[in-house]
Amino acid sequence: MTRDISAEEFRRTVGMFATGVTVVTTNVDGELHAMTANAFASVSLDPLLVLVCVDRDAGMHGLLPVAQGFAVTILASEQEELSAWFASSRRPRGQDQFEGVDWDPAPLTGNPLICDGVAYVDCRVTERHEGGDHSIFLGEVVDLGVLRSDADPLLYYGGRYRRLVADTD
Ligand SMILES: Cc1cc2nc3c(=O)[nH]c(=O)nc-3n(C[C@H](O)[C@H](O)[C@H](O)COP(=O)(O)O)c2cc1C
Repeated sequence: MTRDISAEEFRRTVGMFATGVTVVTTNVDGELHAMTANAFASVSLDPLLVLVCVDRDAGMHGLLPVAQGFAVTILASEQEELSAWFASSRRPRGQDQFEGVDWDPAPLTGNPLICDGVAYVDCRVTERHEGGDHSIFLGEVVDLGVLRSDADPLLYYGGRYRRLVADTD
């Protein structure tokens, strides 16, 4: 038996799971693309695997199967505008969406890494699993690093951006 559950109730409930915010990028023969994602998780230590869930309607969804891989930059607290930009349907496609955005190519793959993020993971796509209206892309980690161990992450909770509050003790 399954209770009749609306998309709104589902979103509101799973939105109580606090996450960080990432920008997932890829580079298909020099065609760059980026999108904001919080459905990111670490999966396995041996081998080193992470996952990202991508909407079947997203431009990224068509690119990842042909891409060599993807990079994930974990955003810092002051990067809310970048998160909104890479989630916006009004941004241009390709290289133009990076206009005014500071980024560096990942050393091994050339996937864009967003400058001033707190950390990055660079991956080779190894598997894709269907997950309803999303696909789950598994990536084997080829490189990673903490970029700013002193910076706070950007958080997403209850459908809003949040920030860490300093510990009082
Ligand atoms: C905080 C936040 C988290 C998001 N997380 C995801 C996600 O995990 N997967 C996804 O497919 N879309 C996610 N989105 C929506 C995409 O960023 C958005 O649809 C984007 O325009 C897709 O880009 P594309 O179609 O150009 O690839 C998120 C948006 C926001 C604001």
